[in-house]
Amino acid sequence: MGLLKVFNFRGILVPLLVFAALAVGSVSGIGVNWGNQATHPLPPPTVVKLLRDNGIQKVKLFDADDYTLNALSKSGIQVMVGIPNEMLYMLANSVKAAENWVSKNVSAHVSSGGVDIRYVAVGNEPFLSTLNGTFEATTLPALQNIQSALIKAGLSNKVKVTVPLNADVYESSTDKPSTGDFRANIHDLMLQIVKFLSDNGAPFTVNIYPFISLYKDANFPVDYAFFNGFASSINDNGKIYDNVFDANYDTLVWALQKNGFDNIPIIVGEIGWPTDGDRNANFQYAQRFNQGFMTRYIAGKGTPMRPGPFDAYLFSLVDEDAKSIQPGNFERHWGLFYFDGQAKYQLNLGSTSSNGLVPAKNVHYLAKKWCVMKPSASLDDPQVVPSVSYACGRADCTSLGYGTSCGGLDARGNISYAFNSYYQIHDQLDSACKFPGLSMITDKNPSTETCLFRIMIDVDDASLDGRVGLLQKPVVLVLFVFMFFTVM
Ligand SMILES: *[C@@H]1O[C@H](CO)[C@@H](O)[C@H](O)[C@H]1NC(C)=O
Ligand SMILES: *[C@@H]1O[C@H](CO)[C@@H](O)[C@H](O)[C@H]1NC(C)=O
Ligand SMILES: *[C@@H]1O[C@H](CO)[C@@H](O)[C@H](O)[C@H]1NC(C)=O
Repeated sequence: MGLLKVFNFRGILVPLLVFAALAVGSVSGIGVNWGNQATHPLPPPTVVKLLRDNGIQKVKLFDADDYTLNALSKSGIQVMVGIPNEMLYMLANSVKAAENWVSKNVSAHVSSGGVDIRYVAVGNEPFLSTLNGTFEATTLPALQNIQSALIKAGLSNKVKVTVPLNADVYESSTDKPSTGDFRANIHDLMLQIVKFLSDNGAPFTVNIYPFISLYKDANFPVDYAFFNGFASSINDNGKIYDNVFDANYDTLVWALQKNGFDNIPIIVGEIGWPTDGDRNANFQYAQRFNQGFMTRYIAGKGTPMRPGPFDAYLFSLVDEDAKSIQPGNFERHWGLFYFDGQAKYQLNLGSTSSNGLVPAKNVHYLAKKWCVMKPSASLDDPQVVPSVSYACGRADCTSLGYGTSCGGLDARGNISYAFNSYYQIHDQLDSACKFPGLSMITDKNPSTETCLFRIMIDVDDASLDGRVGLLQKPVVLVLFVFMFFTVM
């Protein structure tokens, strides 16, 4: 969204504060997104405990994994289950497949399992422009089939369908929300979807990312991304915008209103700020953004067009080190918590008495060992470059680079970081620290003040994780590592 028009917003603050005070107590608590694209995910029971310890009452999932849903059983936490985009084609083309999906992934858990499922998210940002229209033909029919299946299962009053959409399904030709409408190339499709949701009492779900505005546009005014400190508010026919979240959300409100949908509920499906992998991704900004958002949320303060409380899910609960970094290196660092459930910074969610995040308990770590570059190895060794690129290609080096948490390491530090990431992701297998003539295992922690050389958690501990099949992993790995070093 473009910018800017200078406007002095004296006078607006007092009425807003009064409104906020009146609205206190009317919100239903914050939700969080819980994704599991991680090499070493915490066991679901540990995550559910983490949610409860932090007073989080709603969770949004990206699939309907049995183990996860079983852990949520009788937790009192409301659940949005998800259908991955890859399943849309099948569900669009088969009523039977949709009925099976609902039967196995909703009915079974609701009836006997005591899981409080409230929503089914059909697809995830299926109309993102970078997906080139791949899911345009299948999203609505899949939505219709899932809704029919919910009706048939007798669940449609309790469980609502929705489609989490990226905010690029609408746009504005100016910097003002009132010129907003749905994206031209999917305008008709959007109206059909909104009509279907509206007819079925279902909400519109949108993901809004002020961080991305800043990431994509070097000239974007930093303060406009946050909820405090922007001096040049935009005046849209008397509605004042001093943060891009409000402007973005209200662009959607205008798009809906313009097309005859004044009252459809809007859920913010994802909102958050990453902490690493980009110069604007750090604790300070993440804390400023998330606390700014939460303070308004707790106060029940909406936007100029929709001033009341609304539902939102923070993105996200924990870091996920196996996410695609196609959108950017920050993609693996959206968590309020690190992958192991340790809090990154202080955040008051308004849901506990402690005023801060409560970390995960009883986390089992691997041994205190790291893989680093041998002091005797030379930086000029011809194996250095291929070894680092091999490690980074298969592990996670997104904390290296300009403005990141490990951006200050020297060349040896960089190399050690890459080796260690590979070693930890491979569960500290000896064979995963055999970069030819370059690496060694140490028990001396190479972390610096800002840069964490991680130790992974023990995901094969049978007492923590009842699933079978994980034990085969090291075998595959050994083979993999072996093949690599024979090739080199
Ligand atoms: C239920 O959801 C899981 C996880 O998303 C999926 O793998 C499975 O195929 C679904 N079951 C059916 C019957 O569609
Ligand atoms: C979309 O198209 C672009 C450009 O042709 C291509 O690079 C990209 O891989 C495509 N993405 C998908 C998901 O098909
Ligand atoms: C360390 O690695 C990062 C990311 O690959 C690179 O930008 C930086 O220049 C490296 N630093 C040194 C001292 O080699």
